[in-house]
Amino acid sequence: MEIITKVTDIQKITSSLHSVNKKIALVPTMGFFHEGHLCLMRRAKELTDIVITSLFVNPAQFGPNEDFEQYPRDFENDYKSAESNGTNYLFFPSTEQMYPKGDLTKIQIVGFTKKFEGVTRPQHFDGVATIVSKLFNCIIPDYALFGQKDYQQVLLIKQLVRDMLYNINIIVVPTVREDDGLALSSRNVYLSPEERLQAGIIFKALEEARGAVFEGENRRKMINAYMHNILRSEPNIRIDYASSADADTLDEPETFLPGEHIVLLIAAYLGKTRLIDNSIVSIPMEPGVKKHYFVEGI
Ligand code: PAF
Repeated sequence: MEIITKVTDIQKITSSLHSVNKKIALVPTMGFFHEGHLCLMRRAKELTDIVITSLFVNPAQFGPNEDFEQYPRDFENDYKSAESNGTNYLFFPSTEQMYPKGDLTKIQIVGFTKKFEGVTRPQHFDGVATIVSKLFNCIIPDYALFGQKDYQQVLLIKQLVRDMLYNINIIVVPTVREDDGLALSSRNVYLSPEERLQAGIIFKALEEARGAVFEGENRRKMINAYMHNILRSEPNIRIDYASSADADTLDEPETFLPGEHIVLLIAAYLGKTRLIDNSIVSIPMEPGVKKHYFVEGI
């Protein structure tokens, strides 16, 4: 595996690969690899000849009071695991390489990006869209792989590809979970042992709402209430949002229609750590028996 730090070098490499018809898969990351990242690399290797993993902690997607400085970094370990999981080139640029001095261009996607994550992290998606677009431009991959855990980010990337006419296949890989259902995330390292035990409640809340949908619940507020109720049973959890929406548009109708795919979305704080997770579920064509229990406050 080669480490490439300069944009001009990755451009040379990828254009010579394209000239001999090699297919390229890009795995964009911010490093501190866990099994979720490694799954993306292995899936990329199944798809193509050449896997390029980018490792860049992108300052533009962090807000002023967020964890850019503390974001976990471990280059040595990342190098070893990228190499042993099929990466051919590790693109590891500096901030100056990705944001040349005097740069003035930003990509902004409007609409659904202003909801959910976009409320709490207003600059986040502009930063993601801009860096991913830069990576697409200098690598011109045939495939780019993203984890389902960042669900709204996946929708944003798909929108970016459509709107900017990129000829790139976006592959979404299911979330990798711990035994108690906690979604793997580089930020899980911030959790204290006690918080780590409590964090499983997020998956439990998603499962509870999924169960309710399977049994026939299609009223958005009620579906949300199932999640809120479970999350509230853990006093250390502070809910940012626990919501359901159309899985493609993130629209929030009063009731979802039979056959509609919906996404259950949670963002919650445990101490100072903000965790996100999601689950996709279809509204059944023939609703079953509804569960009845007391729903508080919604
Ligand atoms: O999901 C991430 O790790 C980041 O948002 C991404 C896509 C690498 C852009 O910096």
